[in-house]
Amino acid sequence: MAQIFHRSFNTIARVSIYGGLLLLGGLAYVSWVVEQSPLYTDAKLPLVQPIPFSHKHHTVDDGIDCRYCHTSVEKSAFAGLPSTETCMTCHSQLWTNAAMLEPVRASFLTGQSIAWTRVNALPDFVYFNHSIHIHKGIGCTTCHGQLGEMPITWKENTLYMRWCINCHKHPERYIRRREDVFKPIYDPPANQEELGRRLVKAYDVKTPTYLTSCETCHR
Ligand code: HEC
Ligand code: HEC
Ligand code: HEC
Ligand code: HEC
Ligand code: HEC
Repeated sequence: MAQIFHRSFNTIARVSIYGGLLLLGGLAYVSWVVEQSPLYTDAKLPLVQPIPFSHKHHTVDDGIDCRYCHTSVEKSAFAGLPSTETCMTCHSQLWTNAAMLEPVRASFLTGQSIAWTRVNALPDFVYFNHSIHIHKGIGCTTCHGQLGEMPITWKENTLYMRWCINCHKHPERYIRRREDVFKPIYDPPANQEELGRRLVKAYDVKTPTYLTSCETCHR
């Protein structure tokens, strides 16, 4: 059969095929990077709040426990935010003239709650529950970052489905002793894998098969 294409066409075809593949790969990589980046996920971006509330000051410097302000975190699906009265138990005596705290005093007088900007939020079609995680030894900082180092609260993780699943497949990489759950700063110990495997048994953590099935999070 006669040659339809000149030999040099092979080279052209090869260049355009590989070039095309490279370009596609490049585009996929760029969109992956963008999807992961704080610009897209809001993760790690400091937010504007009506009052510059510092977890660093209140949890580490002043030693206040998470549950003093997030009262329902152990008992219910929601952690909850503190009422103005909770702030006023201290700030009716401490820093009473600070301009920074003016919105707290105004809220106390008018009865209008402080409009905090939401930091972490899942879509409505996802079921999440704080108490089960707390009860099974998943610490606040694993999901929310080192609150004890935050002068203003930011979102630490993407909260994407694959982020949830990654832990639901390997809880032994993250689980800690129950008494360490509320620590405002926590770094996993060197023997995390071994401790994790032990705690998964001790706390009777459900199997990865159960934890990664769709109905667990989409009910
Ligand atoms: C003195 C009260 C107080 C204490 C103690 C406290 N918090 Fe908070 N927390 C707040 C307030 C007020 C907000 C809302 C403003 C903000 O986002 O910073 C908040 C917000 C948060 C948010 C973000 C909520 C959202 O919108 O998604 C997380 C996560 C959080 N706190 C975790 C913790 C953890 C973990 C601890 C303990 C290590 C803790 N907090 C201790 C008062 C407190
Ligand atoms: C258990 C006592 C206590 C409670 C409850 C409390 N605070 Fe404070 N707060 C303090 C202390 C002590 C300081 C002094 C700051 C420091 O450690 O430097 C302070 C300082 C502050 C400051 C200024 C200094 C800074 O940058 O942190 C703001 C703003 C503030 N608190 C907001 C709040 C708000 C809003 C609430 C309620 C959600 C609240 N606090 C609840 C004890 C408390
Ligand atoms: C397994 C991950 C995980 C752990 C552990 C965790 N949180 Fe959360 N938290 C989330 C997610 C996801 C949201 C968003 C929930 C939503 O939008 O329904 C959230 C939301 C919040 C909020 C906003 C108000 C609310 O109730 O939705 C606060 C406050 C909060 N968490 C505090 C805490 C504290 C305090 C701890 C530890 C005692 C903690 N969280 C442990 C994942 C976690
Ligand atoms: C760092 C680890 C970790 C992360 C991240 C995490 N989980 Fe979990 N989750 C667990 C563990 C451990 C349990 C407890 C399993 C058990 O009951 O034994 C659990 C339990 C649950 C349960 C209850 C299952 C049941 O029926 O008992 C739901 C629902 C859930 N997780 C949803 C989520 C969602 C949604 C996310 C992401 C937004 C998430 N989890 C992120 C570790 C994690
Ligand atoms: C551990 C919790 C968890 C499990 C298990 C889980 N999902 Fe999800 N899913 C989420 C969260 C969180 C989101 C919202 C964040 C996101 O879009 O990544 C989500 C989002 C989705 C979406 C919307 C995607 C989008 O781009 O908006 C679909 C579809 C979905 N899940 C299907 C499934 C299917 C099918 C399964 C079973 C194979 C499953 N999920 C298992 C947590 C879970």
